[in-house]
Amino acid sequence: MLVLGLESSCDETAVALLDDQRRILAQRIASQDAEHRPFGGVVPELAARAHVDRLTPMVADVLAEAGVRLADVDAIAATAGPGLIGGVMVGLVTGKALAWGAGKPLIAVNHLEGHALSPRLADAGLEFPYLLLLVSGGHCQLLGVEGVGRYRRLATTIDDAIGEAFDKTAKVLGLGFPGGPAVERAAAHGDARRFHLPRPLLGSDEPHFSFAGLKSAVLRQWQALPAPDDIDRADLAAGFQAAATDCLIDRTRRAMVAFPQATALVVAGGVASNQAIRAALAGLAAVAGLAFVAPPLWLCTDNGAMIAWAGVERFRLGLVDTLDAPARPRWPLDPGAEPVRGAGVRA
Ligand code: KG4
Ligand code: ZN
Repeated sequence: MLVLGLESSCDETAVALLDDQRRILAQRIASQDAEHRPFGGVVPELAARAHVDRLTPMVADVLAEAGVRLADVDAIAATAGPGLIGGVMVGLVTGKALAWGAGKPLIAVNHLEGHALSPRLADAGLEFPYLLLLVSGGHCQLLGVEGVGRYRRLATTIDDAIGEAFDKTAKVLGLGFPGGPAVERAAAHGDARRFHLPRPLLGSDEPHFSFAGLKSAVLRQWQALPAPDDIDRADLAAGFQAAATDCLIDRTRRAMVAFPQATALVVAGGVASNQAIRAALAGLAAVAGLAFVAPPLWLCTDNGAMIAWAGVERFRLGLVDTLDAPARPRWPLDPGAEPVRGAGVRA
């Protein structure tokens, strides 16, 4: 079975061709960092235009490199949300056009499901159910993954996503864009104990995350420095990363109790490429007697292979969509989850 996957929900344009034996026949990922860097963040309109320019030639390149004709592909999977709606529409309409033109089924993939199932692309031995920590630019959630399409949200953020907090910290410290990797690099030579930063909701009975207070504390402490230099920058980056990691570990430990059927702790999403966070989670899983699974770094940030893989998983179960499938700016993985105070802006 061959599935073509398209991703365009944020600032990566990505295409991959995958088979159901987990072989990636060809793939392309084009980052738009250069377009957005002057603005210090992703500009939705620029992102959508860049997807329009890049996506179709990338599909042609992937098929050519794999030596496969569109007629030989079994299904087209495209991200249908959640994300920046202009970009989502570009990818979904492209997917629909390919599916219609070639007479192939369309699979409208939830981007978060792409992240949630990506560890099963990397690790053939990973079985359901597992506990998933999904940490990205738009999301910070703990999910009980019971099967394809069966997700129980155990926790979400009541304010900022963790990736957003990394990006804003990078902006405050003048570390540039994209922020997460820059904070991680600066933190590597910093003293995490020098600045005292809050750890919101640590030890709390409620299951959720909060990062707004930590982010504001970084700003206040930075502004209080008389003449900040690279040492201050590294120490504050390290302090922020340590505080954010402590929050993740504490909340994940709590979710392990709420979802005891999990056989593995799995981390996915862009922030999962952070080595300090991976190491802390691996330690937590070891203590709890759970396997720890983290996708390779390239599979953590947005890519086409995770969308193609979610397509494979859905197609195997006969889950296909009609050509009127909507593009959705918000699309929670667990529609039954209670709305959370302050978390209304994102899925
Ligand atoms: O999953 P992703 O590529 O896009 C979304 O769906 O949001 O995640 C991007 C987020 C950004 O906020 C980025 O700063 C963060 O992941 N990120 C990191 C690292 N690499 C990417 N955060 C912390 N440490 C990293 N090494
Ligand atoms: Zn993502």
